[in-house]
Amino acid sequence: MRIHILDNYDEMSTKAAAIVASQIILKPDSVLGLATGSTPLGMYAQLVEMHKKNRVDFREVKTFNLDEYLGLAPDHLQSYNYYMFENFFNHVNIRPENINIPPGNPENIDRACLSYDRAIKEAREIDLQVLGVGINGHIGFNEPDFKLKTETHVVNLTPETIETNSRFFDSVEDVPRRAISMGMGSIMKANKILLMASGKSKAEVIKKTVSGEITTEVPASLLQLHPEVILVLDREAGSYLE
Ligand code: F6R
Repeated sequence: MRIHILDNYDEMSTKAAAIVASQIILKPDSVLGLATGSTPLGMYAQLVEMHKKNRVDFREVKTFNLDEYLGLAPDHLQSYNYYMFENFFNHVNIRPENINIPPGNPENIDRACLSYDRAIKEAREIDLQVLGVGINGHIGFNEPDFKLKTETHVVNLTPETIETNSRFFDSVEDVPRRAISMGMGSIMKANKILLMASGKSKAEVIKKTVSGEITTEVPASLLQLHPEVILVLDREAGSYLE
């Protein structure tokens, strides 16, 4: 793992945006795996700025988002679909047909999972997968468990994740209990992985990710088995690393 520890959130975002932009400059038709949540917001804002200054061109880029809440319509303010368009896609020149987000309201969930995996396979490979990490070690919505799934699947969110994510909703009751998530197999097959983390609450899980026991109970620890992982952290998130 290559580990970059930056002074603060803004610098962490700048570094992550530079890594994503470099990927696209080197390979304009890159396939990106994308995350939502608080952590990558600054990175998306910086990529939008870089695009406005003609420094990065998304015309040939294809994207696959990691996850979506089940039961939320695409235009729901807390859906990851809404988040992605609001914070990123609406402000860059990506082609709508190149955007892939798991559906939150599929007619048939099993078929939706299969068709998401088929689309990933047809894209051949994810060049760069952007990840955040939950305080319980989840990546995507692959929650800690005694076993993990390789392919896109339905997840029962843990009480911890529901509680943590309730900050975005009016009340904890409004947080969907289930989500659809890319599996660990698709994540681990990405050529390169960029994991971002910010803040003291992530310090413990980052330590486990880097040097803890490799266990499905901390899905991020499996990244130790991947040959090309770049960690971009702010000082607080990196504070338990030696
Ligand atoms: C979001 C996702 C999640 C988040 C994680 C951290 O698409 O896949 O794994 O990356 O829950 O969320 P934040 O960044 O809000 O702390």
